[in-house]
Amino acid sequence: MSNLYTIAIALLLAVLCVNSEPLNLAYRAAVQLESGVTIISSSSQGKKGLTFVKEAHLVDFGIDLVGCRNWSDPNGMDCNAYSGDTLCTERRPVLCTKVDNSPRPAYIILGQGAAMPASFYAGWNRGHIATTVPVQGSQFANRAAVDAYCAQSFGTGWNVAQFHDGMFISGMNGTTYSGASWTNNAKNQQSGGWHYYSYGDVRNDIRFWVHIRDQPSTCWAQ
Ligand SMILES: *[C@@H]1O[C@H](CO)[C@@H](O)[C@H](O)[C@H]1NC(C)=O
Ligand SMILES: *[C@@H]1O[C@H](CO)[C@@H](O)[C@H](O)[C@H]1NC(C)=O
Repeated sequence: MSNLYTIAIALLLAVLCVNSEPLNLAYRAAVQLESGVTIISSSSQGKKGLTFVKEAHLVDFGIDLVGCRNWSDPNGMDCNAYSGDTLCTERRPVLCTKVDNSPRPAYIILGQGAAMPASFYAGWNRGHIATTVPVQGSQFANRAAVDAYCAQSFGTGWNVAQFHDGMFISGMNGTTYSGASWTNNAKNQQSGGWHYYSYGDVRNDIRFWVHIRDQPSTCWAQ
């Protein structure tokens, strides 16, 4: 076989490879991006979802504080409840919850509050939390699909955790509105936000996807 013939075969193979589907995808995506044809898919590529992080675990009550901000890192990231904070193509666990109307344990409400009273930021989710294995937020079409994934991971009654899951009663603190007095005053419970307590002891090494009902900051549709 002559050298020229070998080179010709090699070139032909190279052309066939470039045209074969898997190798060609990145190239085609680049071309489409450049030509502006894939505007929708390029914007969904930059889409971010809302995440929470474990902020504390209170051994005395067996409860976690989860929320926006990693307090153990002074320069750590905050969540973005309005437009998301983590690329949906990233893998994160889903934070799942099972609400069983557990009465509020007598944890102390810390801090001064901000726009809202301190208890707004330290609500009780009336149940338990757990994290799934890390998955791309973009793999879920809508909230129902995330709920189904939680149920598949942990069993019936488990759903995706939400930004507003923490319930508070004005004036609750320590034993005030804990236990039976929490349950007896159910009509005074309101939805809080940003952080909340739950039974659980989830991982603290990675942030996790959560749902929010009133903002477009989830990787999935409402
Ligand atoms: C809750 O009670 C503790 C101890 O009694 C107190 O230090 C704290 O300031 C109280 N929290 C609020 C928000 O009043
Ligand atoms: C929280 O901050 C600490 C201290 O910087 C860091 O080691 C840890 O990885 C952070 N956790 C997450 C989930 O980012």
